[in-house]
Amino acid sequence: MPVSCLSRMILQSVLLASLALAQPRCKCTFGKTCWPGEKAFNKLASQVSQPLVHPVPPESACYPANNPADNCTDVTAHSREGNWRAEFPGSMQTPYWETYTFPNGTISACYLDTTLGFSCQQGSVPVIGVDARSEKDVQTAVKFAAKNNLRLVVKNTGHDYLGRSTARGAFLIWTHHLKNITFRDTFRPVGAPQAKVYEAVMTLGSGVQWHEAYDAANSRGRLLVGGLSAGASVGAAGGWILGGGHSALSPHYGLGVDNVLEFSVVTADGRLVTANAYSHSDLFWALRGGGGGTFGVVTSVTYRTYPSVPVIGIFGAVPLTSEAIAKALVTEFIRLQPIWVNTGYGGYSNINSSALQFFFVAPNASQADVDATVQPFFDLAANLTSGGPPMQNGTVPFDSFFSWYRLLFSGGEQVGTNIFIGSRLLPLPLIQSSPEKVAETILSIEGGVLWHAVAGGAVSRVPPDSTGLNPAWRNAVTHVGAFQGWPEGASASVIAAHGNKLQGEVSKLEKLAPGSGAYFNEALPFEPRPQTTFFGSHYKRLKAIKKTYDPASLFLVANGVGSEDWDSSLNCRH
Ligand SMILES: Cc1cc2nc3c(=O)[nH]c(=O)nc-3n(C[C@H](O)[C@H](O)[C@H](O)COP(=O)(O)OP(=O)(O)OC[C@H]3O[C@@H](n4cnc5c(N)ncnc54)[C@H](O)[C@@H]3O)c2cc1C
Ligand SMILES: *[C@@H]1O[C@H](CO)[C@@H](O)[C@H](O)[C@H]1NC(C)=O
Ligand SMILES: *[C@@H]1O[C@H](CO)[C@@H](O)[C@H](O)[C@H]1NC(C)=O
Ligand SMILES: *[C@@H]1O[C@H](CO)[C@@H](O)[C@H](O)[C@H]1NC(C)=O
Ligand SMILES: *[C@@H]1O[C@H](CO)[C@@H](O)[C@H](O)[C@H]1NC(C)=O
Ligand SMILES: *[C@@H]1O[C@H](CO)[C@@H](O)[C@H](O)[C@H]1NC(C)=O
Ligand SMILES: *[C@@H]1O[C@H](CO)[C@@H](O)[C@H](O)[C@H]1NC(C)=O
Ligand SMILES: *[C@@H]1O[C@H](CO)[C@@H](O)[C@H](O)[C@H]1NC(C)=O
Repeated sequence: MPVSCLSRMILQSVLLASLALAQPRCKCTFGKTCWPGEKAFNKLASQVSQPLVHPVPPESACYPANNPADNCTDVTAHSREGNWRAEFPGSMQTPYWETYTFPNGTISACYLDTTLGFSCQQGSVPVIGVDARSEKDVQTAVKFAAKNNLRLVVKNTGHDYLGRSTARGAFLIWTHHLKNITFRDTFRPVGAPQAKVYEAVMTLGSGVQWHEAYDAANSRGRLLVGGLSAGASVGAAGGWILGGGHSALSPHYGLGVDNVLEFSVVTADGRLVTANAYSHSDLFWALRGGGGGTFGVVTSVTYRTYPSVPVIGIFGAVPLTSEAIAKALVTEFIRLQPIWVNTGYGGYSNINSSALQFFFVAPNASQADVDATVQPFFDLAANLTSGGPPMQNGTVPFDSFFSWYRLLFSGGEQVGTNIFIGSRLLPLPLIQSSPEKVAETILSIEGGVLWHAVAGGAVSRVPPDSTGLNPAWRNAVTHVGAFQGWPEGASASVIAAHGNKLQGEVSKLEKLAPGSGAYFNEALPFEPRPQTTFFGSHYKRLKAIKKTYDPASLFLVANGVGSEDWDSSLNCRH
C-alpha cells in the first residue's frame, strides 16, 4: 500500500476519532447527573407556549396515593378507546409499551388492575416534555434536547406497535395538539415551477387524527386517503404517513405516501424546513416510508384530496364448518384477491379456521359491476355452506367513503390490551401461482390472520424507487398480520413466550414468501433482520439521508434507520 494512502488512512482515523469524541457515547436519561436541573427546565418552560408536561401512565389515576382526584372510574370506563388514550401524554395504546422490563426480568409498570398487588411505577413513560402547539415550540424543544444530549421521544397518539413513541427516562415532544387543518383551492409546492399547481389540497398539523381529517374533508365534499380504526384515532400526519400509511382506499388511490405533496419538518439542528419534490427532495424521499421518529419532527403534511364519490360496500361472513370447506373457500378468496384489488376494491378480512369475514369498499363503481366481480366467491360459498349455518353476504351502496367509514368505524374498543403483531407483505406472483398453498399456511396460523387488502392496483403502479418506502409494497397484494395477546401483569418470561410463539407463526409466512418484507408500522418489535425486512433495498440510501440530517442520531427509535449502531436500550452507541 503506497505511503500516501497509508497517511490518508491515519489522518482519516484521527478525524473519525475526534468526531467520536465530539459525540458522547451515551444519551442522557432521567436520574443521571447529566440530566438538566430545575433551572434549565424553568428556562425551557419560559420559551414555549404551554407549561411543561410531566407524563404519567393514565392507569396511575387508580392508585390513590398518586391521584387525590381519584378519577379511576374514567380510566376503567375508557381505557380501551383509542381517542381517550390519545389525550394523555403518558398513555400508549398498548399498555405494554408504558412498562419497562429490567435486565433481570423485573417489570416496572402501572397496571390498571390494582388487585394484582404491584405499586404504580413510571415504567417507560417519559418523565417530562413539551406540549407543542406551534412550530416554534417544536424547534425550541428539539434544540433543548440536542444541546443537553437527551434521550428524545416524539409522540403523537401512541398507537405504535413497536414501542417507538416511548422510552424510559426520556424527554418528550408531544405533537397531539398540533391540530391545524387548512384547505387550499390551489397549491404550488415551495420551489416548484410556476405551472406546477395542485387543486384542493389539505394541510394537516401533525397532531390531527383521522376522524378529524375525515370530518373536515367530508365537509368540503372531498375524499382523503387515510387509515381506519375504531374511532379513527390513529394520527393522520405522524407515524402513519412516515411508515407508509395504508388505507382501504389504497388499491384505488395509492398509499398515504403516494398522496403527500409536502412536509414541514423540524430537523435535528432545530431548523424548520420544507420537504417536497423540489426542496430537500432527499428528505422528502426518506419521510415517505423511512419511518417515524427518525429524520426530524414533522409539524404538518400537505395531502392531495379527491372528489367524494359514491362507493359500494362489500360484506361477507362465512362460517367454515370443516377443514375441507375452509381450505376450498379461503383458496378461492385468495385466488380472487388480485382481481379485486386491481379493480380498485380494498378492505380487510379476518381469516381463521372457523370463519372468513370481510368488509371491502369499491370507490366510484357500479353495484352491478361489483356484484359481477364478487359473485364467483359468493356462489362457491353458498354451495359449500348450504345446509349448514347461514352465511351473510352482500353489496351495499353508500353515498360516500365517509358514510361507509362512519358505519363501520365510528366508535368501539380496539386498543388498551397487550398485543404483539407480526406480519408479511405477500407478493402478487405467489398469490397468483399458489393460492392453495397460501390458504393452507394462513389456516395453520394460531388465532388466524388479519388480511389487509390494501396493496395492488394503484399501489403497484407507483415506481418502487420513487419513495423511501419498502419496495416490497409495490409488488404486494396484501399485508397479512398475526397476533398474540397476554393478560396484564404477566411476567417477562410469559410475555417472551408469547413473542416466541408469534415469531414462530410469522416464520410460516416467511417460509411461504422468503424475503418478501413487512410493513414497518404493523410488525414484530423483534424481527431478526429489521433493516432488510422493513426497508429492503432502500436501507442504504435511507441511512445516508439520516446521516445528512441527523448526524448525531438525536432521533432514534427501535428498529428504525440507524438503530443498529446503538445497543438495545438505544441509549449508548456500540
Ligand atoms: C388500532 C390501530 C389501527 C391502525 N390502523 C392502521 C391503518 O389503517 N393503516 C396503517 O397504515 N396503519 C395502521 N395502524 C398502525 C399505525 O400506522 C402505527 O401505529 C403508527 O405508528 C401510528 O402513528 P401515530 O403518529 O398515530 O402514533 P405514535 O405511536 O404516536 O407514533 C408512531 C411513531 O411515529 C413517530 N412520530 C409520530 N409523530 C411524529 C411526527 N410528527 N414527526 C416525526 N415522528 C413522529 C413516533 O416517534 C413513533 O416513532 C394502526 C394501529 C393501531 C394500533
Ligand atoms: C385525573 O384527574 C386529574 C385532575 O383533574 C387530571 O389531571 C388527570 O388528567 C385525570 N386523569 C385521568 C386518567 O383521567
Ligand atoms: C431487578 O433490577 C431492578 C433494577 O435494578 C431492581 O430494582 C430489582 O430489585 C431487581 N429485582 C430482582 C428480583 O433482583
Ligand atoms: C394554525 O393556523 C393559524 C391560523 O391560520 C395560524 O395562525 C397558526 O400559525 C397555525 N399554527 C401552526 C402550528 O401551524
Ligand atoms: C368515476 O368513474 C367514471 C367512469 O366509470 C369516470 O368517468 C369518472 O371520472 C370517475 N369519477 C371520479 C371522481 O373519479
Ligand atoms: C354450485 O352448485 C351448483 C349445483 O350443484 C352447480 O351447478 C354450480 O356449478 C356450483 N357453483 C360453484 C361456483 O361451485
Ligand atoms: C348472496 O348469496 C345468495 C345465495 O345465498 C345469492 O343468491 C346472492 O346473489 C348473493 N349476493 C351477492 C351480492 O353476492
Ligand atoms: C374466528 O374469527 C371470528 C371472527 O371473524 C371470531 O368470532 C372467532 O372467535 C374466531 N375463531 C377462532 C378459532 O379464532
